Amino acid sequence: MEEPSGILIKGGKVVNEDCSVIGDVYIENGKIVEVGLNLQIPKRVRVIDATDKLVIPGGIDTHTHMELAFMGTRAVDDFHIGTKAALAGGTTMILDFVIPQKGKSLLEAHDRWRETADPKVCCDYSLHVAVTWWSDKVKKEMETLAREKGVNSFKMFMAYKDVFMLQDSELYAAFAQCKEVGAIAQVHAENGDLIAEGAKKMLSMGITGPEGHELCRPEEVEAEATQRAITIAHAVNCPLYVVHVMSKSAAKVVSNARRDGRVVFGEPIAAGLGTDGTHCWHKDWAHAAGFVMGPPLRPDPSTPGYLMDLLANDDLSVTGTDNCTFSVCQKALGKDDFTKIPNGVNGVEDRMSVIWEKGVHSGKMDENRFVAVTSSNAAKIFNFYPQKGRIAKNSDADVVIWDPRMTRKISAKTHHQAVDYNIFEGMECHGVPVITISRGKVVYEDGQLKVSPGHGQFIHRKPFSEFVYKRIKQREQVRKPTAVTRKPYEGHLKSPTMQP
Ligand code: URP
Ligand code: ZN
Ligand code: ZN
Ligand code: ZN
Repeated sequence: MEEPSGILIKGGKVVNEDCSVIGDVYIENGKIVEVGLNLQIPKRVRVIDATDKLVIPGGIDTHTHMELAFMGTRAVDDFHIGTKAALAGGTTMILDFVIPQKGKSLLEAHDRWRETADPKVCCDYSLHVAVTWWSDKVKKEMETLAREKGVNSFKMFMAYKDVFMLQDSELYAAFAQCKEVGAIAQVHAENGDLIAEGAKKMLSMGITGPEGHELCRPEEVEAEATQRAITIAHAVNCPLYVVHVMSKSAAKVVSNARRDGRVVFGEPIAAGLGTDGTHCWHKDWAHAAGFVMGPPLRPDPSTPGYLMDLLANDDLSVTGTDNCTFSVCQKALGKDDFTKIPNGVNGVEDRMSVIWEKGVHSGKMDENRFVAVTSSNAAKIFNFYPQKGRIAKNSDADVVIWDPRMTRKISAKTHHQAVDYNIFEGMECHGVPVITISRGKVVYEDGQLKVSPGHGQFIHRKPFSEFVYKRIKQREQVRKPTAVTRKPYEGHLKSPTMQP
């Protein structure tokens, strides 16, 4: 029998970032065709009853590292498994990172990452590109990436000394070029020099276990770099996006800068909102190592709640996961030396449920703010709104039927990711995606995934996102420093004395 040509979602509460309304959503050919009350569709269509459920835009995970080669090994969630897990959790788009080695072409690294991802992805995706060194060639390639390749965000590392880290003068040059080409500068904000010194100190004190990872880079190491990045970005009037904000101190820096009118966005991640760094002190080495990531999860147990408060109040803007998964045997590369534990945790499958549980179920944010921080703000910042991040006529049919009352318990035994543990193990979450629709196709239903590799598409992003650049452009016009007009100095001129 012929497949029905469209999908009619009936009677759900349609939730966008600005309002919620009871209504129907009609989907055809990968797009939302109509949103309204009691839609009558004459054709043979599949009807999904969404009574008592929410109909929300598919989640957008702003920060993943599928199959990243890193610290002597490769992340186990590849673009196939990782994006399938995303769909099972209600996420319909990821933004992954191209990270070229120092000295290597950004363009070639980008094209290789496209070739890797395109045949495997089960949901739509886009790419940020990291700037790990500086030269005229890098500058030119940033322009080509922004003009021709659909990239409008570049990540600069202030940590990973001698590997990815840039000096302040290089950050200045990279931020200036971001502004020139209409991109947003992203920073991994930690002081790499202090981390290198701190790590040597911990090892010399005999601290070799996972707790050493946090002890060598306390909160102020993150806060200092965050403030420095904001200062440098301000000096060149470049918009800034701080990835993985992990500490109260760094979050306060972002929040204060926003109150001072800086164009800066902070991205907490599921791990930082849902768990904390006390696990790194666990007696079982494998358990402790599983929570090692950079910047570290903080041992102050009030951190997740604090970050959630700031996210609820728009001090922080958007959420990712930094999903970069290494199984226990890979983490064991650092069994005798915490500096060799591959950095990274899971999150791509559980982000939506963790944020619903800790953010909405807790009463800190409403369903509309949930949509803002899980999809629409990302789409606005990275310039593909309202193509995504909104349930509206002509938007992509990336839609999730969300049951806010249903619960599920997170476990590595049942998750769809390749990694063999889960940092949220045992967490009971209200808020479950019962159906996920990607590009107009039901890809997850009744706990089953029905999707093939290559179903997802690359999303080109244009430069000069209005959401980010309106203020930047106006400031460029009105805040130009001007020289004072004076008569030339005509008084006595002392001849310079020779220095000894
Ligand atoms: O621990 C982390 N964050 N691993 C991935 C690389 C990065 O810095 O984002
Ligand atoms: Zn990072
Ligand atoms: Zn633990
Ligand atoms: Zn990352």
